[in-house]
Amino acid sequence: MRYALVEYAERNRVSAAQIKVFPSVPALQEAAADFVAGVLRLATPNNPIRIALSGGSTPRGMHALLAQMVGIDWRNVHIFFGDERTVGPDDPQSNYRMAQDTLLAHVPIPAANIHRMRGEDEPAKAAATYSGELRESFGLHSTGLPVFDLIILGMGADGHTASLFPGTAALEAHAMLVAANEVPQLNTWRITLTYPVLNAARRVLFLVTGADKAEAVSHVFDPTHDDRPPAAFVQPSAGDLLWYVDATAAAGLPEGVKHDNDTPR
Ligand code: 6PG
Repeated sequence: MRYALVEYAERNRVSAAQIKVFPSVPALQEAAADFVAGVLRLATPNNPIRIALSGGSTPRGMHALLAQMVGIDWRNVHIFFGDERTVGPDDPQSNYRMAQDTLLAHVPIPAANIHRMRGEDEPAKAAATYSGELRESFGLHSTGLPVFDLIILGMGADGHTASLFPGTAALEAHAMLVAANEVPQLNTWRITLTYPVLNAARRVLFLVTGADKAEAVSHVFDPTHDDRPPAAFVQPSAGDLLWYVDATAAAGLPEGVKHDNDTPR
């Protein structure tokens, strides 16, 4: 089935989001794995590829497909994380553990190339440690932003992305690369990349599925909506912004985003 690739530029966005609507979750996962593999295949000794993975459950299927992909020189791929829960690496809630179980344990990536957020540490310390790891890995001085080749993100039903939750302090943390973020609605703390890092990326790929996300997706893409969810503010200043959305999560998208499954474009 062909689905329209819709260029969707909003009044107040600095970049035009490309929205791909897929008929099913498997179709989305397959397309996402192909896209990510395409970026990873750019990795060479002179061009290490650095990507940040998303947590949550949506990426699991894509990770399993990606683990089977060929032609990727994993020795020159560096894996980072968009956010982490305040738990240890073996905890079932850990985003690192999810990535290990579904992808990293199944590909020949050197352990030194996996850059884990230390969720087991005190949150502010873990955030500071990860900021330092980013600066070192990207060869940054005290200022400057890490430019990821790709950041993969999900979105919650409340419109959060990474661990940038509605009404939380990290939404305003523009002076840091990584923030420790208190999330009262979950009665927990999280560690998260901040908007300046997300918006510096060469490519950002959102993977969003499920009817429970439809309202938040519609709010992201409705510039007239007065309470824009956190995911709406991921607007790469120079990079590509891609939203891969399945049909159920796309149900509330404004006019102009069509499920075009028979008109070649
Ligand atoms: C996390 C993620 C978070 C996730 C969304 C969607 O740590 O949970 O980083 O931002 O992407 O909550 O999660 P699902 O994919 O499980 O719906």
